[in-house]
Amino acid sequence: MNLPIFNFTKIESTNDFARSLITEHKILQGIVTADEQIKGRGRYGNKWISPKGNLYFTIFFPALKSNLKKIQFLVQLQIRNILKNYNIKNVTLKWPNDLYINNKKVCGILQESIIFNKFFLIIGIGINIKSSPKIKKYPTTYLNIETKKKINLSELVENLKKAFLSNVIHKKYSFKKIAKDWNKYAFLKNKFINFKITNKTYKGIFRGINNNGALILEHNNHKDYFTNGSLV
Ligand code: BTN
Repeated sequence: MNLPIFNFTKIESTNDFARSLITEHKILQGIVTADEQIKGRGRYGNKWISPKGNLYFTIFFPALKSNLKKIQFLVQLQIRNILKNYNIKNVTLKWPNDLYINNKKVCGILQESIIFNKFFLIIGIGINIKSSPKIKKYPTTYLNIETKKKINLSELVENLKKAFLSNVIHKKYSFKKIAKDWNKYAFLKNKFINFKITNKTYKGIFRGINNNGALILEHNNHKDYFTNGSLV
């Protein structure tokens, strides 16, 4: 499968460039990487601080809208697997899109979609390699400090590309299998959490995800299921 790679030294945001490749250049699938981003975006309109030395990677391809959620969790599992192959232990998956090492955030994923004749997924991945920004809301870490080695960026890009080609794009997905795997590595599973959706915060025990990918929160002797929101 043809998956062209567009590499930049500096760009506003690899996700924004991927979007323009689809809408302005009619390119249907590919990868965009950059050494640094000047307008890196995170979820909920947050900034993604993007200095040189970390990974800024976006992959885009046509997909079925019905697979959106499955792919979201599958991508986390694929990145976890890659990190495991670098001998990094204690990598957990935080609902809905992050990866943590020893309770510190190392990777964020911004999964977006657009309809342009067909449905496209634009999956932006930021992995802290050489440094991690200080963020008030949560602790952060980076791969080089966790592995005590220098991770090779182009090798990591290649590993991600391979994982998407073999295990994500054009795959038939069983949500049951994805949810089972995801739950094995879920951050804060069976722990007391604060769960925020719109302006409401719920407190309860996080029981992982169900076979539709909804978050299970046990509180007041019953279970509630959420498809949006975040752990705070
Ligand atoms: C988050 O945790 O809020 C998601 C962060 C996603 C950051 C990546 S870096 C590559 C791609 N380009 C962007 O502007 N954002 C994503």
